[in-house]
Amino acid sequence: MECQIGVISGDGIGPEIVTEAKKVLDQIGKKYGHLFHYTDILMGGCSIDATGVPLTDDAIAAAKASDAVLMGSIGGNTSTSPWYQLAPELRPEAGLLKLRKSLNLFANLRPAYLYEELKAACPLRDDIIGTGFDMMIMRELTGGLYFGARKTEEVDGVTTRTAVDTLVYNENEIRRIAKRGFDIAMKRRKKVTSVDKANVLDSSRLWRKIVEEVAKDYPEVTYEHMLVDNCAMQLVKDPKQFDVILTENMFGDILSDEASMVTGSIGMLSSASLNDTKFGLYEPSGGSAPDIAGKGIANPIATILSAAMMLRYTFDLDKEADAIENAVKQVLKEGYRTIDIMPQAGESTEGIEQVGTAKMGDLIAERV
Ligand code: IPM
Ligand code: MG
Repeated sequence: MECQIGVISGDGIGPEIVTEAKKVLDQIGKKYGHLFHYTDILMGGCSIDATGVPLTDDAIAAAKASDAVLMGSIGGNTSTSPWYQLAPELRPEAGLLKLRKSLNLFANLRPAYLYEELKAACPLRDDIIGTGFDMMIMRELTGGLYFGARKTEEVDGVTTRTAVDTLVYNENEIRRIAKRGFDIAMKRRKKVTSVDKANVLDSSRLWRKIVEEVAKDYPEVTYEHMLVDNCAMQLVKDPKQFDVILTENMFGDILSDEASMVTGSIGMLSSASLNDTKFGLYEPSGGSAPDIAGKGIANPIATILSAAMMLRYTFDLDKEADAIENAVKQVLKEGYRTIDIMPQAGESTEGIEQVGTAKMGDLIAERV
């Protein structure tokens, strides 16, 4: 198969982790007879430096012309980087939001899974971990607070400065993501937890109503509603209870970071952003980690697993995706760890070897 892949290396650790994902993909190509063609696409801080904006129209066109886009991460240190002196719509993150919107990538899948081998890196107690956990966060990605109108008003520059963000959802936006959530639950343990803040927000009350309507078409799926603050608590108290967490944009942003730490590290959490076609944007859920960029210590596994999701969802190459996922498990089983997934203090380090970004990529590529 020939695959046209747009590659957004981005900023910070982005280029380092993307290099490793390509290494693994190329190995898959060799072994299974596929050709992966890569087209570099600028987005984020690097695009600002080169073009003045975080995402050009050419970049959007290049993404649209690809079968799928593989991404590293974008952005810098929000307190010190000059990118954050620019107008909000010119900052790195605005590029990513614009890309998601331009490609209508409304469904964001973030699988959070505790690898048996990473139990020692999990900050939760053994009795809470139990037999482990495996959940899918289905985050709405093109609506809500991140896309509503916003402004900051300086009434007269001296008195009270006021900022407004708007949280808007219409029923169609809610219905299409809810359907995706229930569809995926049908392929898993058939449980959906829809997360909202219906005790306060109107948008959440509509969310709940539409989810109930959609649920009627999925009689086999058990579903429940959970308030987002309670969900934040339940994720550390008893993560095993979750199968599919279905939620709106901002709640999903926050809860997916929390869920990733429960699995040991955000460096393990892959993601797929999908629309109604086979196209997808595949990116690790973590950020650009400017503090460790260029040191060769970042964990490339989330990006490598995102590449596996790309093979599975865009190219229907299930066998190849399995090969990557199994290679990751194998490497973990053999005791190799990047620094972020080293055993917690007090846990045994016997048989464990700390490796850097490139070595981790090599080890996984060797095992696919
Ligand atoms: C993520 C990131 C982005 C988001 C930022 C960089 C805009 O945090 O993918 O979770 O909030 O969606
Ligand atoms: Mg986030």
